[in-house]
Amino acid sequence: MQIDIKLKQNSYKVFINELEKLNFDTKVVLLSNARILNLHLKTLKNKIKCKELFIISIEEGEEYKNLQTVEKILNQMFAHHIDRKSILISFGGGVISDIGGFVASIYQRGISFINIPTTLLACVDASVGGKTGVNNQFGKNLIGSFYQPKAVYCQSEFLKTLNDKELSSAMAEVIKMALSFDIRFFKFIQNIDKKLFLSRDDELLSNIIQKSVEIKAKIVSKDEKENHLRMILNYGHTFAHVIENQTFYKKYLHAEAVSIGIHMANILAYHLNLLQKTQIQEINQTLQKFDLPIFYKIPNINAFYQNFFLDKKTKQEKINFILLKKIGKAIIKDDIDKNTILKSLESFT
Ligand SMILES: NC(=O)c1ccc[n+]([C@@H]2O[C@H](COP(=O)([O-])OP(=O)(O)OC[C@H]3O[C@@H](n4cnc5c(N)ncnc54)[C@H](O)[C@@H]3O)[C@@H](O)[C@H]2O)c1
Ligand SMILES: [Zn+2]
Repeated sequence: MQIDIKLKQNSYKVFINELEKLNFDTKVVLLSNARILNLHLKTLKNKIKCKELFIISIEEGEEYKNLQTVEKILNQMFAHHIDRKSILISFGGGVISDIGGFVASIYQRGISFINIPTTLLACVDASVGGKTGVNNQFGKNLIGSFYQPKAVYCQSEFLKTLNDKELSSAMAEVIKMALSFDIRFFKFIQNIDKKLFLSRDDELLSNIIQKSVEIKAKIVSKDEKENHLRMILNYGHTFAHVIENQTFYKKYLHAEAVSIGIHMANILAYHLNLLQKTQIQEINQTLQKFDLPIFYKIPNINAFYQNFFLDKKTKQEKINFILLKKIGKAIIKDDIDKNTILKSLESFT
């Protein structure tokens, strides 16, 4: 299965379960970490033919998604005489694809890169769309670039070794896309048999990836640099970023925070008469089917509100909220009065 990401320049394809052989007449840098290499390097190596395969393994974890790691990678690439024709392959989850894409975008002013995502979250979200970057002390993903891969290869075989929590939590991003754009896809997700999902059934996983990437492809094609429409993909994220920040990125996986953020956005939508309680319940049941959390106890509502302004998507003192008008249709609102926001946050105290 192939999905086109159509852009004004540098369009590319996302291939789902179609990675047979990759042939390059150049050097290839493979960026990954020890866990993923231990589990899957052998399989991948058999599929790659190139002049030379240079493997760079970085430390595992979000805390290493920073400029120090970028510098280490760049140094290894220079020391190994990687040239401008070489290709970088990011082989891992969103951390690896975000750093790899960023490194590729700045190494000698840019070399080609390919994503081979190994987490469900990276398949459905992080590896597609060209947002790359790293974190710093001021926040997440604050340093980066828009830089599109040459191709993305999602292989459900690599997802078999993910633990249940990593696998299931990614469904928050999938549910996010369905709720914002496609009620039929939401119905499909509601009907997923959890046992089949946890058995990592190839057909089911590739269907989930296909539908999610198709949605993302449409959005990114229309708004590559996130001027408007693409902001809808941040449904749940305005709240999630505050939760992640307040819990020091330790308590929740990103997608878990997104799940709570979806519920918070829905409560706000309820206070604005956009969503009904029954719809919110229906959504929560679906999130909870994948063992996702929907509640975070806000220690201090005013502090939580102030934290919205740390987000890089908050422009000119206006907070952008992505809210559901109904299931399958999200809208952007930047004119909600503070009292309504505070009132809706009270449900989380
Ligand atoms: N660029 C974007 O558009 C975008 C979108 C969403 C998220 N992101 C970023 O993605 C990151 C989160 O991505 P993630 O959830 O994939 O986390 P991750 O990359 O940290 O991977 C999660 C964990 O799973 C391990 N792992 C990866 N593949 C495995 C496999 N096949 N088997 C066993 N273990 C495996 C990793 O080593 C890691 O410990 C965040 O940094 C987030 O900011 C980026
Ligand atoms: Zn996200």
